[in-house]
Amino acid sequence: MAYAKVIGGNKIEGEAVLQGSKNAALPMIAASVLCRGGVRIENCPDISDVRELLSVLSRTGAVCKLENHVLTIDASEAVPFSIDREQAKKTRGGVLFLGAFLGRFHEAWIAYPGGCVIGARPIDLHCAVLRKLHIALEETEEGVYGKGRPVGERIELPYPSVGATENAVLAAVCARGRTELFGAATEPEVSELCRFLNKAGAKIHGVGTNYLVIDGVAELHGATYRLTGDRIAAGTYMTAAAMTGGEVVLRETEGVCMDGILPVLRMAGTTIRQEKNLLVATGNDRVLAVPYIRTAPFPAFPTDMQSQVLALAAKADGDSVICETVFESRFAVVPELRKMGAEVLCDGQYAVVHGVRQLYGATVRATDLRGGAALLLAGLAAEGETFVYGDEYIARGYEDIYGLFRSLGADVVRVEES
Ligand code: UD1
Repeated sequence: MAYAKVIGGNKIEGEAVLQGSKNAALPMIAASVLCRGGVRIENCPDISDVRELLSVLSRTGAVCKLENHVLTIDASEAVPFSIDREQAKKTRGGVLFLGAFLGRFHEAWIAYPGGCVIGARPIDLHCAVLRKLHIALEETEEGVYGKGRPVGERIELPYPSVGATENAVLAAVCARGRTELFGAATEPEVSELCRFLNKAGAKIHGVGTNYLVIDGVAELHGATYRLTGDRIAAGTYMTAAAMTGGEVVLRETEGVCMDGILPVLRMAGTTIRQEKNLLVATGNDRVLAVPYIRTAPFPAFPTDMQSQVLALAAKADGDSVICETVFESRFAVVPELRKMGAEVLCDGQYAVVHGVRQLYGATVRATDLRGGAALLLAGLAAEGETFVYGDEYIARGYEDIYGLFRSLGADVVRVEES
């Protein structure tokens, strides 16, 4: 088991290269199984969620290699393979193989997914869209078994679930006939998946909107795609500058969509400059309270930035109110932040944060990726030593986060416990 040891108080200052997008990389890995031909994904983050998904994919016989942020996959000779509980619980991204396997093999067996503990995270919408595409789906206590070649249909999603949209797209690109998907998620990562699939020969229209029209093709070929930077990692590093009164310059940010995030950081008193391939966040001596923010599907403030902004609000002048509408268990980080002196009241979807002048080092435990990032940020801004356990959650989504923070002036190390 490993933990992070942080000695707080240093300003986060300097330049860093932004990693590629995790949530765009994961569905692309699943999508690669549809491609008969070499896939090359550039700017791929080297994080444990990516590695886990690759280990699942390689069980199909696909040849995968991730080196220097270039991911190559050749699934030309892939054969069907069941994803068991052990593999499924390591990463929730595994659920995307449901649509991809059905598209390629017309058969899939997937144990219920794992991932971060941030709520019930059912997969009923995933199952509903696949049934709509004429797949015979059987749900057991263990997982889901699907059989049949997807057939195009008119589907209305009652909620713009990112994962269910991606599964629908993955199943529909090689379906017989046309699929119309109403109420699709419009997160930038969904659009990236669609653009990648179109490069591999898919026919997806309306990319970036909530109405996708997909004309099924017989099969996909190989493709090369360059991932854009990770908007949540960008937001996290910018929040670190805001919380410590420092300045971070992020490079390789071309095309990164920061909608929903930048207005909140600006509200907190952070000065932000965005150029073509550059994002600069400059913090102030004091953080301002963010009177009211509410998480919701894109383009609203993303739930994946909520914990980090909660940590920011904990150090602000005044009171902030945060409403979490996407994942009910995101406030699991609150009791840990309280150990550091944060004053937060939670009631259902709401957290009321009374900003304090100073946070203090403590021993805390992360139970999910973004909660872990929030605790790390609090540790950077706190007085004294903080020990953040649950390092394995942070490693799921942030590449070399401690090295990056050290290069920006932080005093942080990863300690392996014997
Ligand atoms: C994706 C992201 C995650 C982000 C989330 C919301 C990846 C790998 N993960 O997760 O980082 O926080 O989008 O932007 O891209 N729901 C159901 N039934 C379903 C599916 C979802 O009730 O079948 C609910 C979920 O429990 C949750 C909400 O819908 O309350 C949003 O989930 P969804 O958009 O599907 O998120 P994920 O795809 O799991």
